[in-house]
Amino acid sequence: MDDLGTALAERLDMTRGRTLDLFAPLPHEHLVGQPCALLSPPLWDLGHIAAYEELWIARRLSGRAPLHPGLDDVYDAAETPRSVRGEAAILDEAAARRYLEVVRDRSLEVLAASDLGDDGDPLTRGGFVFEMVAEHEAQHTETILQALQMLPPGAYRPQGRRAHPPRPAAEGGRVTEWVEVPSGEFPMGAGDAGFAYDCERPRHARGVDAFLIARDPVSAGAHLGFVDDGGYRRPELWSPEGWLWREREDAEAPLHWERDGEGGWLAREFDRIAPVDPTRVLCHVSAHEADAHARWAGARLPTEAEWERAAQGAVPDAASGNLDQLAFGTAAVGSYPPSPSGCRHMLGDVWEWTSTAFDAYPGFRAFPYREYSEVFFGGGYRVLRGGSWATQPIAARTSFRNWDLPERRQIFSGLRLARDAA
Ligand code: AVJ
Ligand code: FE
Repeated sequence: MDDLGTALAERLDMTRGRTLDLFAPLPHEHLVGQPCALLSPPLWDLGHIAAYEELWIARRLSGRAPLHPGLDDVYDAAETPRSVRGEAAILDEAAARRYLEVVRDRSLEVLAASDLGDDGDPLTRGGFVFEMVAEHEAQHTETILQALQMLPPGAYRPQGRRAHPPRPAAEGGRVTEWVEVPSGEFPMGAGDAGFAYDCERPRHARGVDAFLIARDPVSAGAHLGFVDDGGYRRPELWSPEGWLWREREDAEAPLHWERDGEGGWLAREFDRIAPVDPTRVLCHVSAHEADAHARWAGARLPTEAEWERAAQGAVPDAASGNLDQLAFGTAAVGSYPPSPSGCRHMLGDVWEWTSTAFDAYPGFRAFPYREYSEVFFGGGYRVLRGGSWATQPIAARTSFRNWDLPERRQIFSGLRLARDAA
């Protein structure tokens, strides 16, 4: 195989290694149980990862017959939505692991025989579909981590936890520092080279007015300020839909926070329960909470275009931001270096809510399948940007668009403040 083929095989292999490492400490009862209606039993993800890979590589590229012809619908995310996956007739653990292995062997054979050159099939050109399959698996490991974080305390004990970088000497997050971005046009979205999902394309000129964006995402300490100031009891701080959500949920704090009985708050991360650390990046808020927090702070959420403009030049690696899962939580504000714009934590720590609805860029073309993003356009989803601590670097870039319903907060979501320039 040429260098690209070798690099793709390594990428698939490394991604698989992480998937299996994350599953290793999971007790069987939680592998098959559904943690909540919003998330799949982790065992479904395992079979789905194999089915997706088989569909795009062995079946689509080389016409091989399916290994489990009866399971297409069960592992199709649209045919079997999350809420019913706990009842679906899926492969058991041994069969799912075997399925992953057999599919992978076939994929590597197809990869070795594929023309990855510029003149070939758009699916194989530059290794497109192999990259897509690796990225898809990486994305599912983030969803799996959301499910594991929903389990009762201690049910999942992370293995191989990595220490956070040292806290900065001057603790960040207490006062908002602003970065001013001048008005102008910039190239928004992914260019033609390399892998990107269809919704990130085409790259197009986008103009933004001058704006201020916070140097850092909102800290847990700043959000404690919102809580203590009655933020969850003051409808004037919320949008009308946001207040309805707050009342329906009876939300008083971010997901996975609980009262300590003495007027303070504890936060849970997998097996750890500890007083909320005010210096760390805030996580597990809905877009409604993000929006209310921003209004309380005399600010607003950035638009998606503002966010991408401020993120230009940020690089997705584990030295530049809290990515790659093994921290199992957010870092202290200011503990990572700034990107070229001066902002920190743009790629990593939390997905940042924007004020923009998920929609197509001008000139959008669905590729290679409508169900990745097109079917979600106009569906009331809100764009999140930046990747979280649970995102692998291969699935993080400044053009990457994530989306979810504004009420969702089982995801690793936070916010960054923005303001119009004076
Ligand atoms: C981009 C995170 C919204 O989980 O629904 C996984 C990613 N797409 N398999 C999702 C995805 C197909 C997607 N999000
Ligand atoms: Fe999927």
